Amino acid sequence: MFCAVLRSNSRLERRPWQANASGATRASNSVLSVELILAMAVNPQVALVTGASRGIGRGIATELARLGFSIAINFARSQEGALECKRLCEQAAPAGAPAALKDGATPSFEVFQADISKAADRASLLKAVQERFGWIDLLVNNAGVAPTVRVDLLEAGEESFDRLMTINVRGPYFLTQAVANFWIGGLKQRPEKSGTPKIVNISSVSAYAPSVNRGDYCMSKAALSMMTQLYAARLAEYGINVYEIRPGIVLTDMTGPVKEKYDGMISSGLTPLSRWGTPEDVGRAVAAIAEDRFPFSTGEVINVDGGFHIRRL
Ligand SMILES: NC(=O)c1ccc[n+]([C@@H]2O[C@H](COP(=O)([O-])OP(=O)(O)OC[C@H]3O[C@@H](n4cnc5c(N)ncnc54)[C@H](OP(=O)(O)O)[C@@H]3O)[C@@H](O)[C@H]2O)c1
Repeated sequence: MFCAVLRSNSRLERRPWQANASGATRASNSVLSVELILAMAVNPQVALVTGASRGIGRGIATELARLGFSIAINFARSQEGALECKRLCEQAAPAGAPAALKDGATPSFEVFQADISKAADRASLLKAVQERFGWIDLLVNNAGVAPTVRVDLLEAGEESFDRLMTINVRGPYFLTQAVANFWIGGLKQRPEKSGTPKIVNISSVSAYAPSVNRGDYCMSKAALSMMTQLYAARLAEYGINVYEIRPGIVLTDMTGPVKEKYDGMISSGLTPLSRWGTPEDVGRAVAAIAEDRFPFSTGEVINVDGGFHIRRL
């Protein structure tokens, strides 16, 4: 794994936190340097978005950039896609000083390669983001994969099951654990006005709607749903809220191979709102959470699915 950190024209070149955060362990994270605290007080809020090179993750990153967030753009393989996301974030970033910005702050965007299914990559990712940004205000667990081939439940193999569970569940489960411990170690030193961090998990309507030709995917998304409940319950005492966003059918590379099938289903009335979802639809929901619009909600599910979840007679 390599952690590509590509610099934008940000004002953070001085990297005042490097001496403290570089190679930091959980214990050393609990003692933040005065320089780091000062840096955090004048810099924009920071979101780490996994799988932001394409599709929904890119839409989330762009909407957060619009709010004034700095973004750590994670990708697995598509460096070109990640750089395009960075360019779109730079374009979307506001000139003024909205929600995430403090006076005089300038958001910045960087890409970080890491396969979130691998423990070593997760550790390097967190370390690199810490070194670059000093803090994380919002973790968005978006990265995920579908099975390469849809196979009937009675014939499906273990290889695909393991792949999906490793990327879609183990990755976010342990990345969240690592980020949560980083937060818990540093919360006391965090400047008061910065607020407490948040987590958003991108699950799917497949968390509750069975597709018998991709049981592995449904199982992984149902597990992610439980993960939201677990971390919401565990982290509440630290004021860290956890949310689940359940997208419906969204037009991305993931749904490209089944586009015709879903075109037909949508036009036949599958969803009350009769259109494909867009990455921007999901991005806007994440932005509402990022803006702290749901402070007394945690473990909450937000459906972004055109009404797919409504039972109708
Ligand atoms: N599209 C839909 O209709 C839909 C509906 C509900 C839920 N979702 C969920 O939304 C999320 C995003 O889906 P999408 O449609 O945007 O998919 P996508 O277009 O295929 O993009 C997937 C993203 O995840 C990244 N990724 C994959 N494996 C990774 C790994 N091991 N480590 C780090 N990043 C990894 C990819 O990075 P690279 O580009 O580098 O490969 C890419 O950025 C997924 O969790 C998916 O299950 C999608």
